[in-house]
Amino acid sequence: MNSAASDALVLDTAAQDLLFREAHTAHAFTDEPVSDEQVQAIYDLVKYAPTGLNAQPLRIVLVRSPEGRERLLPHMNDGNRAKTAAAPLVAILAADHEFHEHLPTQFPVVPNAKDFFTERPGREAAARFQASLQAAYFLLGIRAAGLAAGPMGGYNGAAIDKEFFGDGEHSVLMVVNIGKPGENASYPRGPRLSYDEVVTTV
Ligand SMILES: Cc1cc2nc3c(=O)[nH]c(=O)nc-3n(C[C@H](O)[C@H](O)[C@H](O)COP(=O)(O)O)c2cc1C
Repeated sequence: MNSAASDALVLDTAAQDLLFREAHTAHAFTDEPVSDEQVQAIYDLVKYAPTGLNAQPLRIVLVRSPEGRERLLPHMNDGNRAKTAAAPLVAILAADHEFHEHLPTQFPVVPNAKDFFTERPGREAAARFQASLQAAYFLLGIRAAGLAAGPMGGYNGAAIDKEFFGDGEHSVLMVVNIGKPGENASYPRGPRLSYDEVVTTV
């Protein structure tokens, strides 16, 4: 199933394996804690990955305390609840619809990026799209730290938005369990579409 390493890539084979070929979505974790320093190192790496207009709408809530878990767990789907309760660290990844308030006033191609978005229809959709890109970068950053990620979309999103943000201006994109993979942490690799199924050239 896995394709072999290719000489066309400059990233060394071990890093390719760590990030992609050997990495799996994790559904079980060891007890080893995940520190705030690790999460900061992950964010400080992946923040350099691109977003449209440098918008950066991703916001992250780290759910570490028992009280925080109690607020989150009732809103997770049944099949996701136990592993979310047991994971060393859980991150709620959300889009900030008011991201434009944080944009710098000067941007090379749009002189006033904040004004560009202020009255713009579709700003929420833009926030969700750009933050989803950042969420994917974050998942790879977790792998780069030698950890495994268990992203989940099975939850009551409206309830999580209300519980953790409450301002109507944030929408959860995924909840991610983070830690070292435990026993039987992953499912067998599902098939991936081949290059020829996905890529056309005109
Ligand atoms: C956005 C997103 C949402 C997901 N939602 C769930 C979920 O609610 N529950 C679950 O068990 N797995 C969930 N998954 C895990 C996927 O099924 C898994 O990443 C995919 O099958 C690839 O598995 P692999 O990394 O082992 O190859 C989700 C993954 C992503 C990226």
